Amino acid sequence: MIFPLTIQTVEDVSGHYDELDTAYREIWGEHVHHGYWRAGRETPTEATEALIDLVADQLDLRDGQAVCDIGCGYGGTARYLASRHRVAVTGFTISGVQARFAQSLANGDGSVTFVHRDWLENGLPDGSFERAYAIESSEHMIDKARFFTEAARVLKPGGRLVVCAWLSRSNPTDMEVRHLLEPICREGRLPSMGDREDYAGLASNAGLVPVSFDDIGLDVRRTWSICARRFMLKLFTDGHYRRLAFSRSTRNRSFVLSVPRLMIALRTGAMRYGVFVWDKPATGPETNLLRGGQ
Ligand SMILES: C[S@@+](CC[C@H](N)C(=O)[O-])C[C@H]1O[C@@H](n2cnc3c(N)ncnc32)[C@H](O)[C@@H]1O
Repeated sequence: MIFPLTIQTVEDVSGHYDELDTAYREIWGEHVHHGYWRAGRETPTEATEALIDLVADQLDLRDGQAVCDIGCGYGGTARYLASRHRVAVTGFTISGVQARFAQSLANGDGSVTFVHRDWLENGLPDGSFERAYAIESSEHMIDKARFFTEAARVLKPGGRLVVCAWLSRSNPTDMEVRHLLEPICREGRLPSMGDREDYAGLASNAGLVPVSFDDIGLDVRRTWSICARRFMLKLFTDGHYRRLAFSRSTRNRSFVLSVPRLMIALRTGAMRYGVFVWDKPATGPETNLLRGGQ
């Protein structure tokens, strides 16, 4: 696990998304996740939706299921899934600004609900959902073991969890840690960044069974060159962005420095983009024991 040199708190994470709200929405849009260039010719909008389609396929959604979006951002994924797959999605975000925005766009039919709350203190009853997913939010959790135990707890037996996560490569070099991975954690408000093995171990400890893993780092990296171009244009044309980038009162301005780091890290493989699928076993250990004894 990679840790930043300065501790990143829950308040740092929520402050990041509250402060950079306009920038995120104007530069990248209402999906705060990478695009997925499977064919290579997709527009940015098609690529961001392609990532959701990938998650939806892996979730194996069925009509009427209750689905949890852990770290829902502006609710774009929840709205997309609810309207295309006829599922009911409940999203959690640590950012008050995001929660208000998501609520304001909620489908009028009650198919999406958004909650401004820390996932690690979600207060949900056991077995609330058939499906759960976390797109680029697990990185921000201060206690990743609890991220998984909470996900496993709120899933019904037989439920499924899909996680898209920024990962470090296994055994990165000192140079990669010093110049890429540690600063990316610090500048992007990640209390830690795991690798594939870290996530596999934590999920297994939470009682989840692995189904699949894919590294799509090379297919998502174009996101950052597009963001860099759009940000440069904004710098020249919009005073808000000059203040954001250069004012000492902007707490999260160093995130700009992470953009070239992310481009290099994804290109060189120092960083990976993992898509994990886990199932919660349909039967608990007690039931298995009973079966064994029959
Ligand atoms: C990179 S954004 C991804 C947003 C969304 N999944 C998407 O794809 O558009 C990270 C999200 O994780 C949320 N998040 C981070 N830590 C959280 C926590 N402890 N509890 C709930 N949400 C959290 C942030 O509020 C933000 O919405």
